[in-house]
Amino acid sequence: MSTYIVEGGRPLEGSVRVHGAKNSVLPILAACLLAPGECVIHNCPDLSDVRASLDILRRLGCRAERQGEAVVVDASAPVGWDVPDSLMREMRSSVIFLGAILGRMGQAQLCAPGGCELGPRPIDLHLSAIRALGGAVEEADGGLRCSGRLRGADIVLSLPSVGATENAMLAAVSADGVTTITNAAREPEIVDLQNFLTALGARVRGAGSSIITVEGRAPLHGGTYTVPADRIVAATYLAAAACAGGEVELTGVDWRRLSTVTAVLREAGCAVESTPAAIRLGCHAPLRGVPPVRTAPYPGFPTDAQPPLMAAMAKGSGCTVFVENIFESRYRHVDELARMGADIRVEGRVAVVYGVPRLHGARVRAADLRGGAALVCAALGAEGVTAVSGVHHMDRGYQCLEGDLAALGAEIRRV
Ligand code: UD1
Repeated sequence: MSTYIVEGGRPLEGSVRVHGAKNSVLPILAACLLAPGECVIHNCPDLSDVRASLDILRRLGCRAERQGEAVVVDASAPVGWDVPDSLMREMRSSVIFLGAILGRMGQAQLCAPGGCELGPRPIDLHLSAIRALGGAVEEADGGLRCSGRLRGADIVLSLPSVGATENAMLAAVSADGVTTITNAAREPEIVDLQNFLTALGARVRGAGSSIITVEGRAPLHGGTYTVPADRIVAATYLAAAACAGGEVELTGVDWRRLSTVTAVLREAGCAVESTPAAIRLGCHAPLRGVPPVRTAPYPGFPTDAQPPLMAAMAKGSGCTVFVENIFESRYRHVDELARMGADIRVEGRVAVVYGVPRLHGARVRAADLRGGAALVCAALGAEGVTAVSGVHHMDRGYQCLEGDLAALGAEIRRV
């Protein structure tokens, strides 16, 4: 079990290239299963969730290996259709393999993912999409068995779930006829999945809007794709610089995917410049409180950026209200931030952050991926030494958090 030791109080300076997006690459790796050929995924981040996905692909009979910054997956002859509990548990979002396995193999067996550290994580919308496509779903003994030849259908999601939209798209690619997904999630990661599926020969359109159409059973082949930069990693590094002060430049990121986050930071007093080549942030004064930050499906403020931004606002001169509308238990970083001197009151979905002039080092524990990143951001802006345990949570989504932050001048090491 690793711990980060952070000596805070130094401004961040310099430039970092942001690695490929976790939430784009996970459904793309599941999509590789649909193509009877070799897929090369460039800019594929080396994360524990990605390694778990490669293990699942191997278990299903695919060749899946890392080659430098890329991974190569060959699903010419998959043989498996069940994912054992041990592999399902390694990665929370492994349910994303359901639609692709069922579509390619005609059956699928997975254990149902349990609750997670963000609260209950139901998959009812994933399953109703599979049922709408004609799949039979049996839920028994904590497991899921799905079977059937899929046929195109009109799927109406009761809320724009990212994972359910992706699973519906992945299943619909193998279905006979046309599928329409209404109230689809509009996240950039859905657009990435469409772009990848199209590169494999699939006929998918509408991603980025609320209605996605898939013409199933187009002949598929292998393909090559480059994963765009991770907008949440970028948001984390901007929040780190806002907390520690200084001037940083992030390259490789599409600023349009981050505009709600940069808007809040600008309002709080940071100088933010976004160009097609880079996002630059300068922060030389305590942050001011901003109007309420409400998390919402894209293009609203991303729930994954809420914890790092809260850490930044915890050190400042004003009051900011956060309203978490996506997940139930997404304030587990709050008590840990309080150990560092933050003044934050939580009631239900609402957290009120009263900025304090100084945070101080403490021993704190990461309870989830983005909450852990928030503690690191706060530690960089705190006086003294902070020990952040639970680093394995951060390894799910940050390829080398300590390396990137050290390149910006942070004193951080993993022990
Ligand atoms: C994805 C992201 C995660 C991000 C989230 C919201 C991945 C791997 N993860 O998660 O980082 O925080 O989007 O942007 O891409 N829900 C149901 N029933 C379902 C599915 C979801 O009620 O069948 C609810 C969830 O409990 C949650 C809300 O819908 O309250 C949004 O969840 P969803 O968009 O599905 O998030 P994920 O795909 O799990």
